[in-house]
Amino acid sequence: MKRIILALDVDDHGYALELVDKFSENIDIFKVGLQLFSNTGPAVVRDIHDRGKKVFLDLKFHDIPNTVSGAALAATRLGVYMFNMHTSSGPEAMQRCRDDVVELCLKENIERPKILGVTVLTSLAQDTLRDEFGIQHTLRTHVRNLSKMALKAGLDGVIASGHEAAMIRNSCGKDFLIITPGIRASWALPDDQKRTMTPRDAMREGADFLVVGRSILKQEDSDKALDLIQLEILTSL
Ligand code: C5P
Repeated sequence: MKRIILALDVDDHGYALELVDKFSENIDIFKVGLQLFSNTGPAVVRDIHDRGKKVFLDLKFHDIPNTVSGAALAATRLGVYMFNMHTSSGPEAMQRCRDDVVELCLKENIERPKILGVTVLTSLAQDTLRDEFGIQHTLRTHVRNLSKMALKAGLDGVIASGHEAAMIRNSCGKDFLIITPGIRASWALPDDQKRTMTPRDAMREGADFLVVGRSILKQEDSDKALDLIQLEILTSL
């Protein structure tokens, strides 16, 4: 199974598709996030599907249950492989979203997308959570609570940093998907990410998929960067 999800964090529709074509031999899932989707709308998702590739629609829905469910149904009709919502939308929003998606898939014979919950963004650090958000328990405890809430609501997994992957695996079981962004190979800069981890360590901590953007796309030789990351993943298994 190919473990890297490539984050297409670019503005341009045509350039995003060039990247899909360039990396299509080694990558099966491409992530369409807020930047690309806000520029292109759903057309880019359809064009990636036309190339036989899967899409992780990373729009991080965060709203009341009725609105999140409406967006989730639209993502489902687009045929994406996975999409996500913020776990902090609460248990009712997650449950409603799952139930409505399951019902739609049965009714319209659509393959059910995997629904993932965003826990705590990898760009946030423990002290920000405590000093600015006023959350008094540790970041790990917060991520564990959010992950267990997602599991109970019937979500397929969560997005979390490698630092919490092993703990989530322990509390949510072996079938719960863990998708890990904030991946930084040893040669790449952290940029805005705080809770980073190398590809090898994140896999060893139990991540199922690694979301990688700048560690590949911002490197001078992006093919070589991808090869090196893949090698790290292979040696971690
Ligand atoms: O370039 P980099 O590898 O840091 O990109 C990480 C990608 O993962 C970005 O597209 C970002 O939006 C996304 N992401 C994240 N942290 C999360 C969820 C998604 O960095 N918790």
